[in-house]
Amino acid sequence: MAFDIDMIKKVYSQMAERVDAAREVVGKPLTLSEKILYNHLWDGKATTAFTRGKDYVDFAPDRIALQDATAQMALLQFMQAGKNKVAVPTTTHCDHLIQAKNGASTDLQTALNTSNEVFNFLESVSNKYGLGFWKPGAGIIHQVVLENYAFPGGMMIGTDSHTVNAGGLGMVAIGVGGADAVDVMAGMPWELKFPKLIGVKLTGKLSGWTAPKDVILKVAGIVTAKGGTGAIVEYFGEGAKNMSCTGKGTICNMGAEIGATTSTFGYDESMERYLRATDRADVADAANKVKEYLTGDDEVYTNPEQYFDQVIEINLSELSPLLNGPFTPDLSTKVGSDMTDIANKNDWPLKVEWGLIGSCTNSSYEDLSRSASIAQQAIDKGLSTKAEFGINPGSEKVRYTADRDGILKVFEDLDATIFTNACGPCIGQWARYDDPKNAPKNSIIHSFNRNFAKRADGNPNTHAFVASPEIVAAVTIAGRLDFNPMTDKLINKDGIEVMLDEPTGWELPPKGFEVKDDGYLAPEEDGSNVEIIVNPNSERLELLTPFKPLGNKLSEVKLLIKAHGKCTTDHISMAGPWLRYRGHLDNISNNMLIGAVNAFNMKTNFVKSQLNGEYDAVPKTARAYKAAGINTIVVGDHNYGEGSSREHAAMEPRHLGVAAVLVKSFARIHETNLKKQGMLGLTFANESDYDLIQEDDTFNFVDLNDFSPDTPLTIEVVHSNGNKDIVIANHTYNISQIEWYNEGSALNLIKKENVI
Ligand code: F3S
Repeated sequence: MAFDIDMIKKVYSQMAERVDAAREVVGKPLTLSEKILYNHLWDGKATTAFTRGKDYVDFAPDRIALQDATAQMALLQFMQAGKNKVAVPTTTHCDHLIQAKNGASTDLQTALNTSNEVFNFLESVSNKYGLGFWKPGAGIIHQVVLENYAFPGGMMIGTDSHTVNAGGLGMVAIGVGGADAVDVMAGMPWELKFPKLIGVKLTGKLSGWTAPKDVILKVAGIVTAKGGTGAIVEYFGEGAKNMSCTGKGTICNMGAEIGATTSTFGYDESMERYLRATDRADVADAANKVKEYLTGDDEVYTNPEQYFDQVIEINLSELSPLLNGPFTPDLSTKVGSDMTDIANKNDWPLKVEWGLIGSCTNSSYEDLSRSASIAQQAIDKGLSTKAEFGINPGSEKVRYTADRDGILKVFEDLDATIFTNACGPCIGQWARYDDPKNAPKNSIIHSFNRNFAKRADGNPNTHAFVASPEIVAAVTIAGRLDFNPMTDKLINKDGIEVMLDEPTGWELPPKGFEVKDDGYLAPEEDGSNVEIIVNPNSERLELLTPFKPLGNKLSEVKLLIKAHGKCTTDHISMAGPWLRYRGHLDNISNNMLIGAVNAFNMKTNFVKSQLNGEYDAVPKTARAYKAAGINTIVVGDHNYGEGSSREHAAMEPRHLGVAAVLVKSFARIHETNLKKQGMLGLTFANESDYDLIQEDDTFNFVDLNDFSPDTPLTIEVVHSNGNKDIVIANHTYNISQIEWYNEGSALNLIKKENVI
C-alpha cells in the first residue's frame, strides 16, 4: 500500500495561507470544520464568506474511496470519461459482496465463487485507471481507509455513507453517490451545500464499562436520527483528547445515523500515536508542523455558542453504557434494569439469540482486545455464552495482529465464529435463515451502526440492539438484553455466582501491527495495456454506451407516468434484490419507477400505454415506447427524487427513453443527477398545472432551441380530445449544464473536452 505523502504535504503547505485568508473574510475565529472546508475550495484562496446551510460551494477533495457495490456503476461511468487515469487518488474496496455464514475461510471462497466476475472487473478497471485495489477479505472500506489513507485536515469523499468514519483521524470525510465520485475522478469539482456546524463539547473521561460507542449512542438519543442533517458535528474538549483515535472513528462513523454530513475531531496525541502505529510517522511529522491549523481556534472552543449553530455538552465521567434500538439507532436505553421494564412494555424479546462484534464501526484492535478481556473472564470463571457469538474483524491488519496476540483464540474458545473481514451481517449479507421472511421474532445485539428492520439477517422480526463491543460481549455471555454487568451476577458451570469485571485492553497493539498479506494491489504505472473483460452474456455487468443527445426538437413526447405523492429514489430505483444488478444498467432498469404510484389509478407499476391503450408495468411500457422511437416524460409531485444520491434513479429513465422529468419540486441531488445524464429536469412554474396533466397526454417542447439559463421553457400539452394547454416549466440549468444536455451527458462533454 502506498499513501500519498506528497499530496498530504501539499495540503499542509497551502493551509496557513488559505486558512488565514478565510479567517479574514469570515471575520471571526474558525472551527476545525471551516478550516478544512476553506482549505479545499476548488477556486483556491477564499475571497468571500459562505453562508452555512445556504451556499453551494465547489470543493477539491484529496481522496476518493469506493466500495464494491457502488463502485461498479461509478467505474462503468468513469470509463466513459475518456481519461487514462483518475485525477485524484482513489481506492476500491471489496467488502459488501461477502456473505457471512460458516466462518471466514469457507465464506470468502463462496463469495469468490459467486461474485468473481464483479471482483475481477473492479480489479482490472482499478489496475487500468490507477486506483488502488483492496481484494475481498482485505477488510471493510472505512477501517482500511482509517489505517492507510485518512489524515488530519484532509477532505475525502466515498461512495458509502459511513465514509464519515475517517473523521476519527481529523478529516472531513463525506459519503456521496457514484455520480459525484465520477466527477471528481474525472477532474471536476465537487459541490456541497456549505454545512451548518454542531459542536459537541466532551468533558471528563470514559471509564469502566463505558466506551466511545456510548458517546454517539447518547448523541443520537439527544439529536435523533435526522438531527444532524446538513451539518458537520465537531467534537472538542478534554474528553475528546482522552479518547483513542479508533474510538473517535466509531463516534464519527455513527454520525451517519443522525443524518450528519460528517463528523470530525481536532488533531491530538491519540491521532499521532495511531499514525505512527500504522506506519505513517511521516504524516504525523508533517501534521505536527501545522498543528494549530488542524484544530479549531481556541476562542471557538472557549465560547462555542457563538461559533456553532448548536452546542451539546456531554460529561464522559457521568455517561453510562447504552443499548440503542430496536429498529432505529436513536432509541437509547440504559444498560440494565431500565431495559427490563421497557422491553416488557414493548414486547421485545429479552432473550438474546446472537451477539455480533465488528463492522466498520467497532472492529479496531482496541475494540477486539477489550471485548476479548470479557470473553477471557467468562472462560476463567467457568461461564459459557448463552447466545451465539460472531466476530467480523475490520481489516486483515487487525485480524492478523489480533490472531498473533491470541485475541481471536479467546473468542474461539468461547465458541465464537470468526467471519470474513467484511461487512457481512451488517448489510444483510448474513445467511442466518433459509427463509428470513418467515423467521421467528427474536433479539440480537451488535456493535454495528444500523439496526433497521431486516438490516442484519433479512428477518423483519429480528429486534437488533446496538451497543459497544464490551457490552455486546457481556450480554452475549448472559443471554439477556437486560443484563447489567456492573451489578448483575451470573451462575457458572459449578453453580457458583460470579461477576464480570470491567473490560481492559490496549488502544494499540503493544507489539505493533503486523500483517502478512494486507490484500492490497497497486495499479500499473501505465495501465494502457490492461484489458477490461466484461462477458457480454453477464447478467451483473454491462459496459455502458454513451447516451445520444436528445436534441432541441423534442416533440410528440408521451406521458409515461404521472406519479402521485412521495416518489423517492427508492420508488424510482428500488434496492433489495435489485442490488445484484447495480453494474448492469439494462437489467436494473427493470425496476424503474416500479414503486411510484400512478396518479390515475393509485396503483404501483401499472400504467397505460398510448401505443395500445393497455395497462402494464412501467419498465415494460417504457421499453415499448423506446422500441417505437418515442420519447417519454415523467410527471411528479413535490421533492421528487428525495432519499439518496443513487445515480441509477437518473440513469434508468435515461436508458429507457425518458427525455424529461417535470415535477412540482426536486430533491436537489436527484435534479443534478438528471442533468448529468443529459435529460431535462423541470419544475412547474405554476404548481397547479400538475392537475392539467392527463393520462393520454402528448408533450411538445416549443422553445428548446433557445434553452438558456434563467429562461423558463414552454411546453405544449396536447390532450386526447385535441385540446391544448401551455405549461411553463422552470429550470436551474447553468451554461455548462446546458452543454451536458446538448452533448447527451456530462461524461460525453468531459470526453469531448479530453479529445480536444
Ligand atoms: Fe459495511 Fe456495515 Fe460499514 S455495510 S461499510 S460494515 S456500515
